[in-house]
Amino acid sequence: MDVFHGVLHEDLQGWFDPVLISLQETDTLVCAEYQISYRGRMAQFLGLSDRADQTTTLPITIEYCYPHYRSHLQGISALYLMRLPVGPTESRSFAMFFFKVRLPKWSLRWLQPLLNSVLRRFFLLKFIAQDREMMESEQQTHLTHPEQLYVEINPAIIAVQRLTVRQYEHFVQRSSGELPANRRKEILGIVSSE
Ligand SMILES: [Fe+2]
Repeated sequence: MDVFHGVLHEDLQGWFDPVLISLQETDTLVCAEYQISYRGRMAQFLGLSDRADQTTTLPITIEYCYPHYRSHLQGISALYLMRLPVGPTESRSFAMFFFKVRLPKWSLRWLQPLLNSVLRRFFLLKFIAQDREMMESEQQTHLTHPEQLYVEINPAIIAVQRLTVRQYEHFVQRSSGELPANRRKEILGIVSSE
């Protein structure tokens, strides 16, 4: 998962022009902060701007605690994405999305079920369908051309790849000793395709 794929969600009025402004890496976590821009009716609805044609730039924090992911948009929204690997090429994802809306509190009791349903159907599921198509396409490309070299330019994603390999190595060391060099190379190939 990479915030540099905003162009994929262009028609859903997602974010654009991401700029990585800080990156921290520990043994178990990668935390990246980006400046990203929003524009459109959805940005207006979420209170990011007063007018739909106005561009708003905000910092977003993304934490990769592989295989899980969480992001926070400065007091506006939070996304928790929990992933369950179910095989070498397949994983299941569970997402929780929280956001602030600019509506009177008294109206939420009546509007919340409707809003949940409308946003889920016309917004969140569309985002997820685009993400799923992208992931499946990348995985299929890797399976079809496993020898193809892959170049990653985002330092945050390169850090996530290191984290993924470290966690896999820890797992292998705990369960069956040293990770063979050819298996490490294979895993790096899989990681690069995500
Ligand atoms: Fe996405």
